[in-house]
Amino acid sequence: MLALPSSYDSLERYTDHLCGFIATPLVRQITGGIHVNDALIHDAWQKLPQEWTAWWSSWPDHRLAQQDLIDSVDQDSGPETDARDGEPRLIANRPESLTEWLNTMRSLALPRARRRGPTIHLPEDLLRRMKTKKSAEVSRAAAYIHGICQRKGITRIIDMGSGRGYLSLSLAYLFPHLRILSIDGSQSQIAGSRSLAASLGIPESRLGTMVRWIDGSPALATEIEEWAGGEKCMLVGLHACGSLMENMLRYFAGVACIDAVAVVGCCYNHMVPRSPSHPPGFPISSALRRRGVTLSPTALMAACQCPSNWKRPDMRTGPGPGPGPGPGEESSVFSKRRLYRVILEKMFDDKGVRVGTLDGDRPVWGTRKGDLASFTAFAQRAMDRLGVERDKITTAELAAYERRYGHCQGQIAILWTLSVLCCNVVESVIAMDRFWFLGEEGAQGVDIVPIFDGKVSPRNLMLVAEKKVTGSEAPISVEL
Ligand SMILES: C[S@@+](CC[C@H](N)C(=O)[O-])C[C@H]1O[C@@H](n2cnc3c(N)ncnc32)[C@H](O)[C@@H]1O
Repeated sequence: MLALPSSYDSLERYTDHLCGFIATPLVRQITGGIHVNDALIHDAWQKLPQEWTAWWSSWPDHRLAQQDLIDSVDQDSGPETDARDGEPRLIANRPESLTEWLNTMRSLALPRARRRGPTIHLPEDLLRRMKTKKSAEVSRAAAYIHGICQRKGITRIIDMGSGRGYLSLSLAYLFPHLRILSIDGSQSQIAGSRSLAASLGIPESRLGTMVRWIDGSPALATEIEEWAGGEKCMLVGLHACGSLMENMLRYFAGVACIDAVAVVGCCYNHMVPRSPSHPPGFPISSALRRRGVTLSPTALMAACQCPSNWKRPDMRTGPGPGPGPGPGEESSVFSKRRLYRVILEKMFDDKGVRVGTLDGDRPVWGTRKGDLASFTAFAQRAMDRLGVERDKITTAELAAYERRYGHCQGQIAILWTLSVLCCNVVESVIAMDRFWFLGEEGAQGVDIVPIFDGKVSPRNLMLVAEKKVTGSEAPISVEL
């Protein structure tokens, strides 16, 4: 049964609160109402609650304020986590309204702590073909999928968006009585999967492949029915990108031979929203459509993030050149690039320079690390890449803007952290949409299982369901 956040015992109430929260003006603003790149154009900092910005401004280093935000919504730490060694503890003075908002955000995110359950110890033959993260995911997912197949007497599995086929290969290798079909839109991924199968001695009779774009079309449904030959199948997917998972859930609901489904999503930024030209887009459930839910591209991008995995700032030794865009690396490449971009966007706006693409998308600026030596170097490089003539903005003007806005680096970093902070609530909205859809389609045993260790695999929510039981067959018990 779906485990809701601890303060909820009603699905309707939880969904109402979750959808209500992401529709609040503040969450709308930080998840795309004002894009971080437009922060100076639209005074995004000034539009945040004044007591919050005053408090953040009082921190000796904005990286600490960022870290405080991240720790506050991390499900693995308490809401009032003690500061780590070397980090000053200013938390006691945090405005109550901010603490309340962070607690709300935290309390609305679906639980992500890995559920207990079996893991298959993969043999060396499989392990040496996978990275550690992938083998950890496959050993958990394969155990779970196999458990369902055993319980329901299913011997056929369809792996959609199979990629290099690690899950398919492992299932075929470990359980020779299973018949697997791997489907992926990429010819090269399927070719890679075939050669891995050959190297493991798995014949095509046990592991078939198809190169198909999975778009919900009836033609693929027919092919699946033909492959199943009248037998029951289970549909599975690991890290089904964007709308792929939505299409998979539709095949589960609409193709008679598919009896169970288990799929983990990812890359929400590739999801297609519902529109007159794309009626099947997000949200797919009546429950969320009725509630008028929409998610901006920035919100979808935020759902792909995992700020709690960012490198922590080391306040004793100062900022280092860490690998990611987190506070541990602020003052370094990412925050400087972000600041420079925001200042230049402001200049373009003030001077009426338009650089959008014809379809309204933001163009890629194509600046590199080496361009960050100074704001002038960055701006001139960006202008060259965007086709903006150099004489539109003089070097004196560039220097003046840098003097005027250079101090905003901390504000921009905090604005960006705020948007990313919404990752778990946005992902919860997406997961709940899919959960409701399955229920509306008459599925049973619908659940959202945190299947992987979220620290290793941040996208760890597996949607599972089965077709309604008609006879004496027991439903899936998601006892992991
Ligand atoms: C993130 S990878 C995951 C691969 C594999 N399941 C794994 O976990 O290792 C996503 C895969 O899905 C495929 N894919 C994404 N959308 C697809 C679609 N609509 N139809 C077919 N394949 C798709 C991509 O080609 C890619 O191989």
